[in-house]
Amino acid sequence: MKILKIGGSILTDKKNESLANAARHSEIRRVAEEIAARPEELVLVHGAGSFGHVPAKKYGLPDNFSAEGLRVTHNSVVRLNDLVVDALSEAGLSPLPVHPLSCVLLKDGRIESFAKEPIEEMVKDGLLPVLHGDVAMDVTRRAGIVSGDQLVPYLAEALHAKIAAVGSNVDGVLVDGKPMAKITRKDLPSIETYLGGSAGVDVTGGMKGKLLEMLDLADAGIDSVIFNASKKGNIARALSGETVGTTVTRSN
Ligand SMILES: Nc1ncnc2c1ncn2[C@@H]1O[C@H](COP(=O)(O)OP(=O)(O)O)[C@@H](O)[C@H]1O
Ligand SMILES: [Mg+2]
Repeated sequence: MKILKIGGSILTDKKNESLANAARHSEIRRVAEEIAARPEELVLVHGAGSFGHVPAKKYGLPDNFSAEGLRVTHNSVVRLNDLVVDALSEAGLSPLPVHPLSCVLLKDGRIESFAKEPIEEMVKDGLLPVLHGDVAMDVTRRAGIVSGDQLVPYLAEALHAKIAAVGSNVDGVLVDGKPMAKITRKDLPSIETYLGGSAGVDVTGGMKGKLLEMLDLADAGIDSVIFNASKKGNIARALSGETVGTTVTRSN
C-alpha cells in the first residue's frame, strides 16, 4: 500500500483568490496521467489549495465557528475533488471520492478517529480512494480543518503503508535554497529558521507544517519523501521508492 499526496499548490493557483479561475486543469490532467502509469495499490490525498484556503480564511476558520463557512468551504473543496476524480477516471483509473468531513473526527485539531475500513475495501477491489484537505467536526473545538498533510501520516500508519510520498511545488525541504537529501528530528533545531509557511494562501502551515507531520510519521517508523510533483516523472519516481526530494526518516 502506498500513500501519495499531491499539494494544492500543484492543482490550484493559491495566489489566485478568485476560485473560478484557480484550478490548474492541465496540471490536474498531467498528475492523473502520471498516477495512471503506476496503478498499484494506492491511496491518493490531495491538498485543498485555494479551494479550501481562500474560503477558510474568508470565514475565519478554524478559529471562528461558522455554519456557513463550513458548508461553503466543504462544498468548494469537493468541487476540486470532483475535478481530480474526473481526471483520474479519464486517465483510465477507477477513483472514488472520500470526503474527510464524513469520516474523520478531530480532537484539539488532530485526527481522533477515522473510518478506514471503506478505504481498505476500495483498495482491495482495485479502486483508488481520493481524499482531500477538508473541514471536519472537532469534539473539543466544535470544528476544524484536517489538512492533506495531516491525513498522510494518519493513513500511512493506519493502513501500514510502505511508501508515503508528498508532492509539493518545491524540490523538497530547502535550506539555503537547496533541497536537503535527508532530515531526521535531530536536524530540526538547525534548519528551523529556514522553514516557513506557504508562498500562497495556506492556513495549514506550508512547508513547516508538512515537515512536522512527516517527522511524526518517521517517529512511528515510516519514512516519507517530500518531492517536487510539478516536475514531470517525479510522481512515478517517488511511487517506486526512488530518491527524489527530501527523505524524512527516523533518527537512530
Ligand atoms: N524551507 C523551505 N523549503 C521548501 N519550501 C518552503 C520552505 N519554507 C517555506 N516554504 C514554502 O512552502 C511551500 C510549500 O507548502 P504549501 O504551499 O503548503 O504546498 P502544498 O500545497 O504542497 O501543501 C513552498 O512552495 C514554499 O513557498
Ligand atoms: Mg500546504
